[in-house]
Amino acid sequence: MVELVREALHTSVTDPVAASMNFLNEVANRFPAAISLAAGRPSDEFYAVEDVERYLAAYVGYLRAEGMGEARIRQAIMQYGRTNGQLGAMIARMLEIDEDIRVPAESIMVTAGCQEAMIIALRGLCAGPEDVVLAAEPCYLGFTGAARVLGVTVVPVPETAQGLRPETVARVAREVRASGRRPRALYVVSNFANPSGVTLSASVRRGLIEVAADADLLILEDDPYGLFGLDDTRSPALKSLDTDHRVIYLGSFAKSVFPGARVGFLVADQAVVGADGHRSLLADELSTVKSMITVNTSPIAQAVIGGVLVSCGYSLRAANREKIAFYRRNLRALLAALERHFSDPAITWNSPSGGFFAVLDVPVRADEKLLELSARDYGVLWTPMLFFYLDGGGSHAIRLSCSALAADQIDEGVRRLGTLIADVRP
Ligand SMILES: Cc1ncc(COP(=O)(O)O)c(C=O)c1O
Repeated sequence: MVELVREALHTSVTDPVAASMNFLNEVANRFPAAISLAAGRPSDEFYAVEDVERYLAAYVGYLRAEGMGEARIRQAIMQYGRTNGQLGAMIARMLEIDEDIRVPAESIMVTAGCQEAMIIALRGLCAGPEDVVLAAEPCYLGFTGAARVLGVTVVPVPETAQGLRPETVARVAREVRASGRRPRALYVVSNFANPSGVTLSASVRRGLIEVAADADLLILEDDPYGLFGLDDTRSPALKSLDTDHRVIYLGSFAKSVFPGARVGFLVADQAVVGADGHRSLLADELSTVKSMITVNTSPIAQAVIGGVLVSCGYSLRAANREKIAFYRRNLRALLAALERHFSDPAITWNSPSGGFFAVLDVPVRADEKLLELSARDYGVLWTPMLFFYLDGGGSHAIRLSCSALAADQIDEGVRRLGTLIADVRP
């Protein structure tokens, strides 16, 4: 039988980050009774299998009401479809209602999750080895992993407790240019980031738009958690401030509907001008990339999401009231549990104003060894923050996730973690 040399495969196969996540999954499998403050997935308590059929029917009903005949409907759901998808107008309406983002339907590409949107944007923007992307660090693994698959270099921009500092972005962009490379875009998770929980203030958002213009950068704005604030106050989406068309908005329905649909989207309303003077929208240009990756996003999955959008009057904010209340309760439970179980002043944590995650700073190295001990002897799992740094940061910090647990499990998980840290701290 043929034997392939692992090290001769592409580096993304042996990606150290993927190896870390595999380790986490493997520990979770070995200790199934451990409470997982590591799992960042949405709670499935709101899912019902029948909903899939119901939303599909709602979408078909909508197409009929629009006057589409049965043969065309059959094609829309079951045939190869338009590369950029069929939900552009619905998503444009949803963005206007929920986010005050006004963009033409043609600038929207429906993708196989936000993950594919990241890959397509990165592939389209980064033409050669000198093209790099900046990313707030700590950074979502899906983004750094996507860049690694494509061979695109990610240059970290350190995040503070208040989020990114526009002047730091400007400095890093300058340094990148001075080194002979071209910074193409900056990746940010604008609300309740994964992994840090940090939200960009309104003034930082404005500052980033200005820096992007000065440094000739695009911004990749990823916002899968924005609906889930602890209260109703919210900062404007970067895309809603984007008079200069510098922001490519990356959307996900994974948290607002369900991840199994694997539907996301990107908004790329930038003008592209060819050497022959031909003008087009970036979304159209990127469709060639998409067509070579997934041809088109599953129309069945699009129909389910379309049914959700039709049924909620194009407001996911309205459709998610129950989930919003649930995640608020859970984040409050996490923050209350931290207050209850950690009184040592050497241990601190941030207080995110929404989302699924918080970060605990501890006076011990929070690595895979400690995680293994934690799972085996203390029955609690968490994610080392060092997984989210490209060059060795985050060694004494822990990401805690509260999205997939009941409130009493959150409290018990944090109590167990408190015992672990008290036992191992110097
Ligand atoms: C910041 C961020 N972006 C994107 C995604 C993934 O989105 P999707 O499931 O639509 O690919 C996640 C999921 O965890 C995330 O945390």
